[in-house]
Amino acid sequence: MRCRKCPQRAVLGMPRHNTAFCGPCLTEFVRTQVQKAIKAQSMFAPEDRILVAVSGGKDSLTLWEILLKLGYRADALYVDLGIPGYSDRSHEKVERFARDVAEACGSKLMIHTVEEDAGAGIKELANLIKRPTCSACGTIKRYQFNRVAWENKYDVMATGHNLDDEAARLLGNVLQWQEEYLQKQSPTLPASVEGFAKKVKPLYRMTEREIAAYAVVNRIDYLVEECPMAKGAKMLVYKDALNRLEAESPGTKHRFYWGFLEKQKKVGESSVSMTDTDQTMLLPCETCGQPTTAGTCSFCRMMARAKTSTR
Ligand code: AMP
Ligand code: FES
Ligand code: ZN
Repeated sequence: MRCRKCPQRAVLGMPRHNTAFCGPCLTEFVRTQVQKAIKAQSMFAPEDRILVAVSGGKDSLTLWEILLKLGYRADALYVDLGIPGYSDRSHEKVERFARDVAEACGSKLMIHTVEEDAGAGIKELANLIKRPTCSACGTIKRYQFNRVAWENKYDVMATGHNLDDEAARLLGNVLQWQEEYLQKQSPTLPASVEGFAKKVKPLYRMTEREIAAYAVVNRIDYLVEECPMAKGAKMLVYKDALNRLEAESPGTKHRFYWGFLEKQKKVGESSVSMTDTDQTMLLPCETCGQPTTAGTCSFCRMMARAKTSTR
């Protein structure tokens, strides 16, 4: 198979675009797609300060690399969840990338360690408060992303969610008619409150396969294994179903998610945005001062419950 742009051998076929690329042409294609995503969804401007949430996996490390290569001012935050083995390995990948690639671009890595903060890793913490590990993990990550972005005055917070993630989430939301979640599912979410960073997903145009190929071609050393805590089993089922549809009819994921974004844009133009209404409902948490809808935010309530359970 030959590259469609030059005479080199192709490293990746892309049936959804009816094309194939060699390494350098794939790199150019992916970076152009990310730049298009940033523009099409008004994510950020060259002068904005971006905080990338990095997990050590292919998506977030690739995102950090691309933003730096495109010349953006992007620092990163890693949350060490204290999952034996897995967290040590992902922590190492993130630190290595920061040292070998990011620092040369004047970018820095920040690390939040759950064990240092809470006295226990995520599994133990979730057991103490009797909540599924992934839900406690979600609360902690969301809180730390917001806190670090707020304290360091970042304009934008970026995550490595890709087209497979977004299409699978959309399928789940549609199957259950989660209208509230549908309204909030967007590659760009404005700051929910003054001072909070806006949230963006610059890889939403790229599939998991395309990102993995980019990472290999560009020698990004990422952690291949997934988190051992059952990652929302349902999401994996939705991803699998979409992959089967994609194999039968290339471009299915793309059309499904693009179609949704088009419809969302039309609805958005004719109605008040969700975040406008959200802003008026948020107040500072009584314990930590972060904006919340309850008197005490869910993170502080979780920590308080964990403390009472250890007494
Ligand atoms: P996931 O829900 O694991 O697919 O992760 C989605 C995105 O959240 C990743 O692409 C990262 O941007 C971010 N993320 C996940 N885990 C972490 C972590 N431990 N520390 C920082 N960011 C993370
Ligand atoms: Fe949160 Fe695994 S428990 S990523
Ligand atoms: Zn709080």
